[in-house]
Amino acid sequence: MAKVAVVGAGLMGVGIAHAFASSGHSVCLIDVSGEQLAKAQTTIAGILADGVRLGKVAQPAADAALARLTTSESVTAGAAGADLLVETVSENLAIKIDVVKKAEAVMAPTGLLATNTSALSVTEIAAACVDPTRVIGMHFFNPVQKMKLVELVRGLATTDEAVAIGRDYVAQLGKTAIVVNETPGLTTSRMSAMAGNEAMWMLQEGAATAEDIDTALRLGFNHPMGPLELGDLTGWDTRLSVLHYLHATLGDKFRPCPLIIKMVKAGRHGRKTGWGVYKYENGVKVPGSGLKGTNL
Ligand SMILES: NC(=O)c1ccc[n+]([C@@H]2O[C@H](COP(=O)([O-])OP(=O)(O)OC[C@H]3O[C@@H](n4cnc5c(N)ncnc54)[C@H](O)[C@@H]3O)[C@@H](O)[C@H]2O)c1
Repeated sequence: MAKVAVVGAGLMGVGIAHAFASSGHSVCLIDVSGEQLAKAQTTIAGILADGVRLGKVAQPAADAALARLTTSESVTAGAAGADLLVETVSENLAIKIDVVKKAEAVMAPTGLLATNTSALSVTEIAAACVDPTRVIGMHFFNPVQKMKLVELVRGLATTDEAVAIGRDYVAQLGKTAIVVNETPGLTTSRMSAMAGNEAMWMLQEGAATAEDIDTALRLGFNHPMGPLELGDLTGWDTRLSVLHYLHATLGDKFRPCPLIIKMVKAGRHGRKTGWGVYKYENGVKVPGSGLKGTNL
């Protein structure tokens, strides 16, 4: 089994670390924040405990997965000798480049460097590495323990061998890979950023309440959740970074709605801060708490 380093213990890092540890890999979860790492360990233990309670995981398997998980506040220490790096730090090119460069210097020489970026250029991240051929996009979905898709992204230099190794890892997680060429926003982020942004424009214009916009997409198109609920789940801070990038690369149709900018300034990032378009108490959406258009 491989030695996997997951950098970034936020929303996605927690799910990705859990997925690899549950599949038998040894995982070092790395973050600059010790507090974030402690929180992540508790969340992963909680996901495993839920799995046991629901009969999806046997207690010994859950205990073994937790035992395979270590943490570190240093990329250089935590990624030493790793066969696979999954960077899932904040959606910021400079931070991501810094992380992959540090990791490449200490990983196994044949190790795969994967980035979970939602929209940034894999080619640009790879170009900062000594060997760009083994850099790939490995785009997971939130919540990782439930979502079956992983988008593997070919940068300009990514080799077929790197793609094959990436496919192998995804299969080991019991998930399905699609392979896409690098374009801004890939296939999924581009679509969901557009839908979430448009829903926010509609909300800002007072076209309907948040609840009604989400209900429209759930019941009218059978989407499992509405675009505003999805934005709350993704985090509007992350969503805004993606929109800024898509706006710069694909043009004006991705101009971020000012309401998103206002919400991020207010710290209303979504579920993770307890308040986004909706309010959340103990992780549960408060009925009737959605923005109404008239209160903007
Ligand atoms: N949120 C989603 O639904 C989603 C889905 C797919 C992909 N992504 C992508 O995953 C990545 C992470 O998103 P998230 O929602 O988990 O963000 P997040 O804000 O929840 O977590 C980011 C983490 O990175 C850590 N970090 C920042 N700089 C660091 C550094 N230099 N070294 C180590 N750790 C560092 C932060 O402390 C934080 O814990 C982004 O690139 C995002 O675009 C997010």
